[in-house]
Amino acid sequence: MNHYNIALIPGDGIGPEVVEEGVKVLKAIEEADKTISFTFKEFPWGCEYYLKNGKMMDDDALDILKDYDAIYLGAVGYPGVPDHISLRDLLIKIRKGFDQYVNLRPVELLHPDLTPLKNKTEKDIDMLVIRENSEGEYSGAGDWLFKDKPEEVVLQTGVFSRKGTERIIRYAYEEARKSNRTLTSISKGNALNYSMVFWDQVFEEVGKEYPDVKTYSYLVDAASLYFVSQPERFEVVVTSNLFGDIVTDIGAAITGGMGLATGANINPERKYPSMFEPVHGSAPDIAGKGIANPIAAIWSVSQMLDFFGLEEWAEAVLNTIKQILKENTYLTPDLGGSVSTDELGSHFVELLIKNRG
Ligand SMILES: NC(=O)c1ccc[n+]([C@@H]2O[C@H](COP(=O)([O-])OP(=O)(O)OC[C@H]3O[C@@H](n4cnc5c(N)ncnc54)[C@H](O)[C@@H]3O)[C@@H](O)[C@H]2O)c1
Repeated sequence: MNHYNIALIPGDGIGPEVVEEGVKVLKAIEEADKTISFTFKEFPWGCEYYLKNGKMMDDDALDILKDYDAIYLGAVGYPGVPDHISLRDLLIKIRKGFDQYVNLRPVELLHPDLTPLKNKTEKDIDMLVIRENSEGEYSGAGDWLFKDKPEEVVLQTGVFSRKGTERIIRYAYEEARKSNRTLTSISKGNALNYSMVFWDQVFEEVGKEYPDVKTYSYLVDAASLYFVSQPERFEVVVTSNLFGDIVTDIGAAITGGMGLATGANINPERKYPSMFEPVHGSAPDIAGKGIANPIAAIWSVSQMLDFFGLEEWAEAVLNTIKQILKENTYLTPDLGGSVSTDELGSHFVELLIKNRG
């Protein structure tokens, strides 16, 4: 029997609505497969919690979460709470505290109608972006000198440690080797004359241990252009925190938008729990209406199952997502359909279990 303890942080806005559907999928798997069981514990943390308690999560949150096998997060963000507070005091605290230094973002076209790109099909857009998730441009280092004076100066320091740079690049080489795909590094050595020259150097150094992996290296501006004009160039991609944040949004744009983008924050050593979340935010404009698209959150479940080593179920979940998109009848309004979040989730579970016989 494989048992997994999952901490749920549904968060704000549509977060709880989509997490509910992801949990529905996990419970259906548990029901259908007697070798797997899950326990769930929900935590009320997020912006509404902040408005009541003056903090995004309990002071000992990391201590509480550390023994779980995974964290499943919806979204955080709420009008009235500055976004840098919700981001830094919850998401980044967990990512950093649990050394989730790998951010895995599949950019995969699940159905040809979903891309706005002309003449591109599923075979052209199928990559895995591996984003550095613990330091770089988002390290939070810097200073704000002479605040509100005419001579005001702000410094935002990118931090690229040898350990941090080597481990993410090595992870990417391993992934490319394992899956027999090419590896592309995205950087900006021509303008960022310390950090990105160092990044390129480490990419080359580590590459010497992987002569079997075919590599490419692009500047981030050229890479952004190729994401749109020739996405077929990319298979496995490795890049820094900021560049990864930006290019994966381009990735979402060419594969159907935010309702379909997922991301996993991984601690590869499994010393701490990893965190799985849809990429979208709390969508206050549609929260409470029951029309949020749960597919990204369900794709996160597939990533979680994969991480647990339950690859067959992970694949079954992804195939069922593809089937739903192909059927084109059970879709939420963002994809041109008219079903609710709950209806899509229930139909999903029915198909998944039917597919698995
Ligand atoms: N990981 C996170 O928790 C996270 C990520 C991004 C933004 N945010 C926060 O969310 C709040 C809103 O941010 P935003 O509006 O820039 O981004 P958003 O992703 O919440 O919404 C952008 C647009 O996409 C739509 N959308 C997003 N997810 C959808 C889904 N599942 N189904 C259907 N439509 C969907 C929304 O309705 C909106 O029109 C902010 O407070 C922001 O800080 C949180």
